Amino acid sequence: MRVAGVMSGTSLDGIDVAIVEIRGRHVETIGFQSTPYAPTVRKAILAVSNTNTHTAAISRLNFELAELYSRAVQRAVKRFGPVELIGCHGQTIYHEGRSNTLQIGEAAVLAERTGVPVVSNFRARDIAAGGQGAPLVPYVDYLLFRHPKRQRIALNIGGIANITVIPPGAAPDGIVAFDTGPGNMVIDALVREFSRGKLTYDPEGRIAESGKVSLALLDDLLSDSYYRRKPPKSVGREQYGTEYVSRIKAYRLPMRDLIATATVFTAAAIAIGIGMAAEKTCPTDLIASGGGVHNPQILSHLTAFLPAIALSTSTDFGIDADAKEAIAFAILAAETWRHRPSNLPAATGAKHGTILGNITL
Ligand SMILES: Nc1ncnc2c1ncn2[C@@H]1O[C@H](COP(=O)(O)OP(=O)(O)O)[C@@H](O)[C@H]1O
Ligand SMILES: [Mg+2]
Repeated sequence: MRVAGVMSGTSLDGIDVAIVEIRGRHVETIGFQSTPYAPTVRKAILAVSNTNTHTAAISRLNFELAELYSRAVQRAVKRFGPVELIGCHGQTIYHEGRSNTLQIGEAAVLAERTGVPVVSNFRARDIAAGGQGAPLVPYVDYLLFRHPKRQRIALNIGGIANITVIPPGAAPDGIVAFDTGPGNMVIDALVREFSRGKLTYDPEGRIAESGKVSLALLDDLLSDSYYRRKPPKSVGREQYGTEYVSRIKAYRLPMRDLIATATVFTAAAIAIGIGMAAEKTCPTDLIASGGGVHNPQILSHLTAFLPAIALSTSTDFGIDADAKEAIAFAILAAETWRHRPSNLPAATGAKHGTILGNITL
């Protein structure tokens, strides 16, 4: 079955569309394309995220974003050919694990514009079943990366960074998955300030490379209890917003030093998470994905923190590192279409496995 997966993450950089062919357990990527958000759209999303008001703005954006998703899918379909199903994650504007979550981007509009059935709102059913509604990608990590003899750790470095630890020969209930802390979010916010909005990220980690790491600041950032707390646990845009960036700027160091420190911090938080959850004595592959794989500074700090672990990217395993999360939502949509449960209770804390999402025909 040919499926489009549509993902728009916490970085608010844009809309990723992956088109995949799914045959049984075999997944082939047909094509992948990103459509950046215009700065005005990014601003509109930020304005309604984690606030208590703005009902009208949310209602409007719910429909407007769906038009953008529709165009992004239509562009991909024009380039790579038609699809039979769309899995759309939507844009998260509010999330309180275990009790509520809101991803917007109205599926009715997407189905109407494309003429293709849509699976959306993946997180709600897991929350209804007692889970956190996140993370959902570990189910896909398990399908794609599990190995009988090797421990596999899937790491996605998006706005937030998260890991899925799959022990050798593990059953689904043996998987541990959680957010390790920030991915690119803190770095991006500092770079935006540094460049007065001209840059939205640190290209190839070059600013970080030119700066000096402040151990005092690094210690301070790592002292938050979150990084040592046992999973299940998750973080979001709200933890690493304006206030957090102000705390960093209060150190009054040159901006490049702050960016260098934020970059080590991302890698250190990932390494701490892996240290807590992974088995130390078995052969291990760390399989990285997300925009953070384009920042060699993050990757080289990771290698330094984790000398015993072989670092690769999901591209090395046939899953394009930029497309991975979009591919994951195509696979989750296909599972739902076949009426198969696709949450992992071990990862989300749900009371039972459940079929995820709403289907709009
Ligand atoms: N060439 C690059 N150099 C450094 N960082 C990059 C590069 N390309 C992408 N990134 C980082 O990846 C982020 C986007 O990652 P993505 O996986 O799309 O995250 P999300 O799922 O949160 O949207 C950008 O905001 C940026 O920080
Ligand atoms: Mg993105």
